[in-house]
Amino acid sequence: MCSIIGYAGRSAAAPVLVSGLRRMEYRGYDSVGVATWGEDGAILLKKGAGRVEEVNRRLGLDGLAGHAGMGHTRWATHGVVSDTNAHPHTSSAGGVAIVHNGVIENHLEMRRSLEDSGYVFASETDSEVIANLLQRYYDQTGDVRSSLLGTVSNIRGHYAFIAMFGDGTMACARHGKPLMAGLADDGLFLASDVRGFIEYTDDAVYLENGTCCMVRDGVLEVMDFEGNAVRRPATKVSREFGDLDKGDHDHYTIKEINEQPGVIRRAGASSVAQIRRVADMVRIAGHAYATGSGTSYNAALMGRRVLARFAGVRLDAVIASEMPGDTMLERGGVLLAISQSGESADVLEAVRTARRAGCTIAGVVNSANSSLARDSDVVIRMDCGPEVGVAATKSFCAQYSIMLRLAEALAGDTGVDLEGVASAVSRVVQDSDRIREVAAQIRDITDVYVLGRGLHYPAAVEAALKIKELTYIHAEGLAGGEMKHGPLALIEKGTPVIVLNPYDSTYGDMLLGAREARARGAKIIGISDRESDAYDHWIRIPPGDEVSYSFSEVVAAQLLAYHAAVARDADPDYPRNLAKSVTVK
Ligand code: AGP
Ligand code: GLU
Repeated sequence: MCSIIGYAGRSAAAPVLVSGLRRMEYRGYDSVGVATWGEDGAILLKKGAGRVEEVNRRLGLDGLAGHAGMGHTRWATHGVVSDTNAHPHTSSAGGVAIVHNGVIENHLEMRRSLEDSGYVFASETDSEVIANLLQRYYDQTGDVRSSLLGTVSNIRGHYAFIAMFGDGTMACARHGKPLMAGLADDGLFLASDVRGFIEYTDDAVYLENGTCCMVRDGVLEVMDFEGNAVRRPATKVSREFGDLDKGDHDHYTIKEINEQPGVIRRAGASSVAQIRRVADMVRIAGHAYATGSGTSYNAALMGRRVLARFAGVRLDAVIASEMPGDTMLERGGVLLAISQSGESADVLEAVRTARRAGCTIAGVVNSANSSLARDSDVVIRMDCGPEVGVAATKSFCAQYSIMLRLAEALAGDTGVDLEGVASAVSRVVQDSDRIREVAAQIRDITDVYVLGRGLHYPAAVEAALKIKELTYIHAEGLAGGEMKHGPLALIEKGTPVIVLNPYDSTYGDMLLGAREARARGAKIIGISDRESDAYDHWIRIPPGDEVSYSFSEVVAAQLLAYHAAVARDADPDYPRNLAKSVTVK
């Protein structure tokens, strides 16, 4: 979670750092800070709680002097969101400053020992121990390398950090959180994400776990945690990650929702051979597991349905954070690990568990250079381009499309026409204005239930997740048939209920459920290709088959959630308390 960035070069550092932070802000955005070396070598620092734009306006982060420095956007794990807890943190003597992504598990123990030696702490964060530990070693040895190696040998947890020393050396270490270097003409970058430096260079060095670096006089020195020199090749990163312009759209989220017809057409296009290979692996194993978190787990649920329906293959979908112990998984199984970012800690942990159980890992990822891509035996790329909006939209359609392509590779012809699905989705997107009108009607509600049956049940769960994230309205996705087994007790006059009710095999029963809820006072919003007097509001989707409907209704719900968020003055791109990739457990 969060983003860290360092820069040393010929340009003024602070504006470069702030623009990099702006581009990486989707990763975590409760506070922000920048530190630079001023002309006299002193560490200058500004930080505060709030979003990059706002804090920069308030404090002038980009006005700090100097040609080298570092920055951070935080997603708090230890300590409240406050100016003091924002990074960078300095050692108590002020000779070392750090920015940190991740969690230091033994921070309490370290803190106690440092306090006993006279080091003073200003914040509640776990991160501050890194600054004081580096300082303690530096006080003892006067040497940055030994300070770095000593510190990484003492801290436990998952982290990436960058440190600035009073002598002008920048240093960093990576253990379980992303960190890479960018080699630009006018300077050197360290960043959590290529977006931190893609404006300046597409030459990157991906640092392995268990490496640290020092940057001095424009030279990057990479070593392992024992201090042995490590050679890491520079690679070209995809320029598409620089394509982060909102264009004419007000938000990335709506831009990404609108991109979905193309996403459905392209999903997995660069991984045709890999999809076939995974199909062969699943065929041999006889069944498979799928895992993911949040939306990616919901895509696994869609996969479970379509693999059973079209290929007669059992896919056990498991929430990544609930992956059972390795003894519960069948040896020799196949795990589909689905993740947009490829960096979700829960997914990476589930992969490690499955590997211990002797499973082969097929990663379904958007980011080809992610940890998950590197931890997988086969990588299926989602090919949906960068997704900046924190709420997943187009990545869901890409993941679901890949599940369908996998079903096709297993079964031969499934009769699913993804081109037809893409056309249906583009009609839904064109109906955005009409959906905005319905959104205006639900603007002030506090709870909503989303019902679906069959393939439309996991679609309802995903629709509810979008409403929660974007609007902060309490939303629950329920199996249509379950309403009468309990949740009906929650319905009173005016309670909104969204029914995913396309005209397929689920239609009759779903309509009955809608009428039952309406008879008890519910206000029904029907998402369907058929109008009905059971609906108080109707969101029309194009006619199609069950698969096409399931895409159309999710996209309609994304638009409903997006417009309702805008109407409620919530920022759809950066929902409160969330971060794009959750790299802590
Ligand atoms: C989706 O809208 C959420 N932001 C979240 O549930 C997300 O899908 C989840 O954190 C998984 O992320 P990943 O696909 O990058 O692993
Ligand atoms: N654990 C640190 C904190 O709470 C860093 C969190 C992050 O990765 O943003 O400040």
